[in-house]
Amino acid sequence: MSLTVEEAGRALADPQAYADDDRLHEALALLRREAPVHWVEPEDYRPFWAITRHADIMEIERNHQIFLNAPRPQLLPAALDAEVRRKVEQGAPALRTLVHMDDPDHRVTRAIGADWFRPKAMRALEPRIRELARRHVDRLAALGGTCDFVQQVAAHYPLYVILSLLGLPESDFGRMLKLTQEMFGGDDGDMRRGETPEEKMAVLLDFFGYFQELTAARRRHPTDDLASAIANATVDGEPLNDLDTTSYYVIIATAGHDTTSSTISGGLHALIENPGQLDRLRADPTLLPLAVEEMIRWVTPVKEFMRTANRDYRLGDVTIREGESVLLSYPSGNRDEAVFDEPFRFDVGRDPNKHLAFGFGVHFCLGAALARIEVRAFFEELLSRLETIELAGRPEHVATTFVGGLKRLPIRYRLR
Ligand code: HEM
Repeated sequence: MSLTVEEAGRALADPQAYADDDRLHEALALLRREAPVHWVEPEDYRPFWAITRHADIMEIERNHQIFLNAPRPQLLPAALDAEVRRKVEQGAPALRTLVHMDDPDHRVTRAIGADWFRPKAMRALEPRIRELARRHVDRLAALGGTCDFVQQVAAHYPLYVILSLLGLPESDFGRMLKLTQEMFGGDDGDMRRGETPEEKMAVLLDFFGYFQELTAARRRHPTDDLASAIANATVDGEPLNDLDTTSYYVIIATAGHDTTSSTISGGLHALIENPGQLDRLRADPTLLPLAVEEMIRWVTPVKEFMRTANRDYRLGDVTIREGESVLLSYPSGNRDEAVFDEPFRFDVGRDPNKHLAFGFGVHFCLGAALARIEVRAFFEELLSRLETIELAGRPEHVATTFVGGLKRLPIRYRLR
């Protein structure tokens, strides 16, 4: 049965819709075609404009002095939104990461971490990333020919990379894995810690506790890692307060994790589903950088970010009023027929590939260079040893409106 535009709009605020790729893309294609700037009034969320065309997403991100990240950088259930506000009024800390900020704070705060993520710094980190990629392909080999690739391999590797960059001990990696999944798989029954906003809030508070201890330790004994750079950073000669320091760790530990693991799992799934593309890539490994870019477009693990207008703005034939929020649908922009030739074809040689999976403009993903190296290193290791691979069961997607991808990818394989 075909969808109406109203139903398609509501799908954007329905975690379950993201667990069904076909249904989601049917809805997004309809919106791009018939209502690219569409007012949505979902049941459990505040109303917003759904922005589904590539050009409109870029226009909004380019106008970052009008479309602000504060106070609502992402879609949150109205009940959670209210709970967070209530806790803050009672004096609990509120997360204030780069994605919650606008200029001038955003520019100054982003600069603190920026050097650690430049391609030059990333090249220095590359040997460690390769070692971790090799360890995880070894782990795949040790699993003996069948596994759930998401839970047993992909979920661990990017977290190891990011926690190594931060400088945390490997003994803490398990705890961080659980916390980041609880935080980002927030809408999915299999991932979340509890049902209530209080239980979700408890995840946030656990994060705060861990990172506050880390800041104190790095201030007492600075070391040569990103955690020390954050703990000892100054703005106008003053150290960051506890909240801003903790928020910095949180954005890096969380943003760098499920995004990249979802890309690797979804990329592998796409190669299994498109054996011709897998053969092409094996025959010509120089295609790998383009293949990585295509995996990132194909998966688009970040489903949305929001902006709120600080004055009336005319977008196409619609006026967005001051105070209204827009939801930038990256999966939609990345299948926009006006920009991509045959957008629903997975093409390891796609060039050009002007996808928006890392966003655009001043908030463009800080970890993009790192993510690209991680994905490439993993597939270089894997493809050099892979003999056969096939699905061993039905893949399943995380039900979330924010960051997600596959939560299960059962595979059968043979490695050299
Ligand atoms: C921001 C996607 C990996 C750190 C973002 C944004 C997107 C995104 C869509 C928002 C951009 C915007 O608002 O225009 C992705 C994808 C990844 C990935 C698809 C993997 C394939 C990483 C990694 C890190 C990271 C590995 C590093 C630890 C950040 C940070 C921001 C950000 C710190 C906030 C930037 C700001 O607001 O200035 N990312 N990301 N991301 N990402 Fe990533």
